[in-house]
Amino acid sequence: MKNFIAASLIAADFWSLSKEFKKLENTKVKWIHYDIMDGHFVPNISVGSCELNSFIKKSNIEVDIHFMVTNPDIIVPNFIKMFKSRKLKNITVHAETCKNVKKLSKITRKNNIKFGLAISPESSIKKIINNIEYIDLALVMTVKPGFAGQDIINNCINKVKNLSNFFDKNNINIPIQVDGGIKLKNISLLSDAGANIFVSGTGIFKTNNYKVTVDNMMKIINK
Ligand code: DX5
Ligand code: ZN
Repeated sequence: MKNFIAASLIAADFWSLSKEFKKLENTKVKWIHYDIMDGHFVPNISVGSCELNSFIKKSNIEVDIHFMVTNPDIIVPNFIKMFKSRKLKNITVHAETCKNVKKLSKITRKNNIKFGLAISPESSIKKIINNIEYIDLALVMTVKPGFAGQDIINNCINKVKNLSNFFDKNNINIPIQVDGGIKLKNISLLSDAGANIFVSGTGIFKTNNYKVTVDNMMKIINK
């Protein structure tokens, strides 16, 4: 599996979004990662369906949505109905709030979208392992969900290692995504731990040259 980078839009300059997209299109980022926050599951509110609609239409970069919401079982099917776009590649919900992983996974996969399950720092990797047959991507959060610009919680790196070892031992070929605090200076820690998809917000948008930053990250994660 070729490892890759997803750019987390929440850290972009929202005043100049079209410029931000142009700069990203010049890089090797494979996905744009949209954080959808509801102000309940996390103490913050981010983009919603209106913004997403225009982003998906205007940009060619594939889309990954990370739902940090209390009621994904209701919200996700509505989003899927609204966004019938081939650019929408993956939808991830949190294991802490999803009531019926099997059902939501079925709805998502039926629409040719991959289904990811995320765990917050306080949750065990068992929440992923117990649902393994329903998921196409495992997201191990490396910060407390809710805000960009935080530092990685070191203990989460061990969770990535443990999950990756479990996948290797059991011949499971599901990518491990990591999200939160990932930058050029620390990406090797997650790569060595066995992660495959690296979400980076501040680590890209607060650098001077996105292309150079992403190229350098790609060298590390595919060495
Ligand atoms: C945190 C979000 C992340 C975050 C990434 O709740 O899910 O996607 O915004 O931003 P950085 O890389 O700045 O932590
Ligand atoms: Zn995210």
